[in-house]
Amino acid sequence: MWWPLRSRRDRDRSSAGLRKLADACGVRLGCAVSARGLDADPAYRETLASAFNLVTPENALKFGPLRPTPDTFSFGEADAIVAFAQEQRMEVRGHTLLWHKMNPSWLKPENFTRGELAAVLERHIKRVVTHYKGVIRTWDVVNEAIGGTGTLRPSPWLEGLGPEYVTQAFRWAHEADPGARLFYNDYGADGLNRKSDAIHAFLEELVAENVPIHGVGLQMHVTLGSEPAKKDVAANMARFAELGLEVQVTEMDVACIGRPTRKMLRRQARVYEEMLEAVLGCDSATAFIVWGLTDAHSWIPYTFPGKGWPLLFDEEYQPKPAYWAVRDALASETRG
Ligand code: G3I
Repeated sequence: MWWPLRSRRDRDRSSAGLRKLADACGVRLGCAVSARGLDADPAYRETLASAFNLVTPENALKFGPLRPTPDTFSFGEADAIVAFAQEQRMEVRGHTLLWHKMNPSWLKPENFTRGELAAVLERHIKRVVTHYKGVIRTWDVVNEAIGGTGTLRPSPWLEGLGPEYVTQAFRWAHEADPGARLFYNDYGADGLNRKSDAIHAFLEELVAENVPIHGVGLQMHVTLGSEPAKKDVAANMARFAELGLEVQVTEMDVACIGRPTRKMLRRQARVYEEMLEAVLGCDSATAFIVWGLTDAHSWIPYTFPGKGWPLLFDEEYQPKPAYWAVRDALASETRG
């Protein structure tokens, strides 16, 4: 590849620098991971542990993977990720207790009465949060509940339990671990727009009702060329902070349409830098998490063929301009 990097030794040293800089800035710098990635490749483990101070399981804590049958909890993959993180003294962020996607086929509202479905969700949340109590201190409790029109989107939970499912989920998670930081997480609501307005209004109501919610996750899945403006992201973070909420960038990637040119990579780097600067500039923003380790591990090419190359490292674990931009932003914060 043609971005500047000389040897494996340089890479290791520079990655270690990234994690150290994040620690020095007091920012959680995280990465979504899979147990398969950890298992398969020493370079995956080394790069991860030297560049980041936090991991979040990309899929292993979702309802489907955890619950192959109504009576089974399948913690193996998530436990492996947690064990790795503990070994490497990294924090673990929990994603996600409840979503409209990646649910098991047995989870159909028509198979349950309302009371039964409520019991399924309560048992799930309490068992999972308790399993990781004291280890996973931050959870996405509810993921992507609001649709593009600003109302609750169709999901088995909405259909089976009504709109109260959101409040109930937060209360059950809080009962299981009163010390955990509980988040609402969504995409397409990073800057100022109709969806972020709707999420802000929704969370304002939850806060007013004393629902135990402590933070909002801005996923930040963006496509190069249609990324939000830094000032809008900063203003969005500020208004959530005014509600007393912590803010985290939870799933950042910057997809390129077609194999990127040098110019596109420089532009991509700038987007990462600006979004990280927004985090560093907001006292209530505490984490900056990327959605995958290298371009080879991203969900984007599989979901949107022709798009991709969205992360900080290329397919060969080489740092890209975006990596250096993140490093520079952290370094100026440390100096400032
Ligand atoms: O593990 C199975 C494998 O056994 C099987 O052979 C293969 C065949 O399709 O599928 C594998 O599972 C896939 C899984 O990723 C693990 O790779 C699923 O099909 C695939 O749907 C799943 O995609 C994940 C997606 O969420 C689920 O909708 C992506 O990896 C993951 O990056 C993505 O993450 C979401 C966040 O949770 C929420 N925000 C949006 C973000 C991107 O969509």
